[in-house]
Amino acid sequence: MTPASTDPLPGPLRHGAPVHVAPMAGGPSCPELVVAAARAGHVAHLAAGYRTAARMAEEVERVRAAGVEEFGVNLFVPNPHRISRADYDAYAESLRPTADRLGLTEPWPEPREDDDDWDAKVAALLERPVPVVSFTFGLPDPAVVAALRAAGSVTLQTVTDPDEARRAEAAGVDALVVQGAGAGGHSGVWEPGRLPEDRPLPDLVRLVRTATGLPLVAAGGVATRDDVRAALSAGAGAVAVGTAVLRATESGASPVHQEALADPAFDGTRLTRAFTGRPARALVNRFVRDHDAGAPSGYPALHHLTRPLRSAATAAGDPSAVHLWAGRGWRSARRAPVADILAGLVP
Ligand SMILES: Cc1cc2nc3c(=O)[nH]c(=O)nc-3n(C[C@H](O)[C@H](O)[C@H](O)COP(=O)(O)O)c2cc1C
Repeated sequence: MTPASTDPLPGPLRHGAPVHVAPMAGGPSCPELVVAAARAGHVAHLAAGYRTAARMAEEVERVRAAGVEEFGVNLFVPNPHRISRADYDAYAESLRPTADRLGLTEPWPEPREDDDDWDAKVAALLERPVPVVSFTFGLPDPAVVAALRAAGSVTLQTVTDPDEARRAEAAGVDALVVQGAGAGGHSGVWEPGRLPEDRPLPDLVRLVRTATGLPLVAAGGVATRDDVRAALSAGAGAVAVGTAVLRATESGASPVHQEALADPAFDGTRLTRAFTGRPARALVNRFVRDHDAGAPSGYPALHHLTRPLRSAATAAGDPSAVHLWAGRGWRSARRAPVADILAGLVP
C-alpha cells in the first residue's frame, strides 16, 4: 500500500527537525524539557493533564519567558468511562493488600469523576493563545476546535485508528497524532473499554493515511533513527517521542520512574488498566502483575482511587506500586541532555 501524498504539517509543527517531543503529563513535560528541546530545534509540548488551568498558564508563561515561540499545550478531553459502584468497590477491595503493604490505612475515597478543569483550560487558551493545542482521550466539540483555530492555534488530535482519524477530520482539526499501541503512557483510544489494535507504527500510519489527507505526526515506540525513518517513509510528516526523553537531564519524571527505566530487573511493558482504569503502557511491576487481570474500565474514577497508593510508593522510592509509564522502546531511553537524545534520532 503506497501512502497517498501527504499534506505538509501546518506552520508551527513544521518548525525545526521532524522529531518532536510528545506531551507527557504527571511531571515529565516540565517547562525545562520543552525549552531545552525547542532551543535544540524541536517542537515540544507541555502537558496540561492533571494540572489546574492556573498551573497550565504558569507553565506556558515560563516557556514564553525563555523566548520559545513554537510549542504546544496538550489537553485531556473529558471522555469519562463510568464504572458501577459495585465494580469500583470490588476493585478497591482487591487493592487492600497493596495498600497494607504501603502502610495506607485511610478508607477508600468515594468514586470521583471530573473533567480535568476542561472549560477553564480552554478559556485560558482562548484568552492567551499558544501556537499548538493538542487533544487526547477523545474529540472535543467542533465549536471548541473552531474557536481555538480562530484564536490562531494549530489543533492536533491524537487518534489510534482510521475511524477516529475520519471523525477528527470532520471535526475540523489541522493535523493528527497517529499513536501506535507501542506508545508509553495512556493510549489516546477514544473508547477506553477496548485496547488499541497492535500493529507496527509504519503500518498504522499507512492505514490512517488511507482514511484522511490530514498531515500526520507518528508516535509510539520510536526509539532509533531507523524507527524515525520508517515512520516518515510511511507518510508521517514528523514523529513524536516520549519514553526516549523520560531520562533526559531536563525531564521532570520522578527519580523512581527514571531509575526503573534503567533497571535491568524490568523485562517488559504491558498495556494495563490497573492504574487508572484506562489502557496505558507501563513497565510490568508487582502492581501490574497483581492487579492487571482484575482491573475494570473506569476513568477517571480509578485514577483517583489508586492515586494515594501511587503517590505513597513514589515518595518512598518503591517502584513496585508506581505507574512506570514506558513505551516498547524503553530500553533505549538514556540519561543525556534532551538535545543529544533528539540529535541521535534525527535521520
Ligand atoms: C510518562 C508519559 C506521560 C504521557 N502523558 C501524555 C499526555 O499527557 N497527553 C498525551 O497526549 N499523551 C501522553 N503520553 C503519550 C505520549 O504523548 C506519546 O504518544 C508516547 O509517549 C509515544 O510513545 P513512546 O513513549 O514510545 O515514545 C504520555 C506518555 C508517557 C510515557
